[in-house]
Amino acid sequence: MLSAARMSLGRRAFSSSARSNVHVAVLGAAGGIGQPLSLLLKQNPLVTKLTLFDIRGSPGVAADLSHVNSPAEVIGYAPEQDGLKKALKGAEVIIIPAGMPRKPGMTRDDLFNTNASIVRDLAAAAAETAPNARIGIIANPVNSTVPIVAEVFKKAGVYDPKRLFGVTTLDVVRSSTFLSGLAGTAPKDTDVPVVGGHSGATIVPILSQTAEGKKIVEAGGEGLAALVKRIQFGGDEVVKAKDGAGSATLSMAYAGAEFTDAILRALNGEKDVTLCTYVESPLYADKGVTFFSSPVTLGSDGTVAKINPVGALHPTEEKLLEACLPDLAKNIAAGVKFVEANP
Ligand code: NAD
Ligand code: LMR
Repeated sequence: MLSAARMSLGRRAFSSSARSNVHVAVLGAAGGIGQPLSLLLKQNPLVTKLTLFDIRGSPGVAADLSHVNSPAEVIGYAPEQDGLKKALKGAEVIIIPAGMPRKPGMTRDDLFNTNASIVRDLAAAAAETAPNARIGIIANPVNSTVPIVAEVFKKAGVYDPKRLFGVTTLDVVRSSTFLSGLAGTAPKDTDVPVVGGHSGATIVPILSQTAEGKKIVEAGGEGLAALVKRIQFGGDEVVKAKDGAGSATLSMAYAGAEFTDAILRALNGEKDVTLCTYVESPLYADKGVTFFSSPVTLGSDGTVAKINPVGALHPTEEKLLEACLPDLAKNIAAGVKFVEANP
């Protein structure tokens, strides 16, 4: 059986003997997430080439990063002269943080109108230029932007569900931080699988599957409610604190780098790399929830090899899951409908 740590976040392994020959492209690379994420990827020895694209600023970010004395070659592309295609050509992993962040008072769904078309257009370019890449979507609302990418790839005739991921790693990172803070444990040993989607009630932390979390779940009451709320609405905490200057960027860059590293490690031959990520999933498809995050095991080509079920749930977690599913079904349907109406 997989440990909770392996299931939710994946194991960190920056091995100095690692084979490093992967080209990663970051779209939205000059933004609040894109810049620190690109820095973390530049430090990863499994990356040999890092191409950065943004509608503004990526050549400067690339010039800056290229002075860091790690192996990866870094090239920045602007939209002019087919920059997007050039950034995507040969990419084996594509990470997309391009899109508007929230301001106080907004929900992630309020970003749909702006970000749906940004993600659709970037996905169309990826489908044309790098159809076999593994794609990680950070842009919100993730619950809908991932189905948007799937629909675009289907239209282009190149959809492989095993290659498309919604990045929900920040929810796992937050759960680990918040639970270990309460339990007095080391965050790295306190891993909580988080299933469902990536917004409010669709974020379902399975605290009962860790020793420390189980105690809190069994005690129930306000302590449990407050912890679950903090995990589900951790994003709001940052949006409020930034007071109009955006949403989580640094913790997201960390989480995005962990997500990407899991794919790179699988590609590098590490067995049974398993992490919670939002993928096309059969688990609740009969309820209209065709995309769902649960522990996913990657194969040696860095794509989905096995979608693991959510495992044993405490009755309070069953209730959270019940509340998640209808919201998630609506978010997915909105993404599919968007591409139908705006091809
Ligand atoms: P930001 O505004 O700082 O950066 C976004 C970048 O995207 C900008 O540099 C912008 O120029 C670029 N961009 C816009 N349109 C583009 C296009 N068509 N092609 C390429 N680049 C384009 O925002 P941010 O704080 O980096 O957040 C980015 C997105 O990530 C937001 O939608 C935010 O809600 C989301 N986010 C997701 C998670 C998660 O857990 N999945 C966490 C935090 C933020
Ligand atoms: C987060 O969880 O921090 C992100 O989805 C950004 C947001 O809008 O909260």
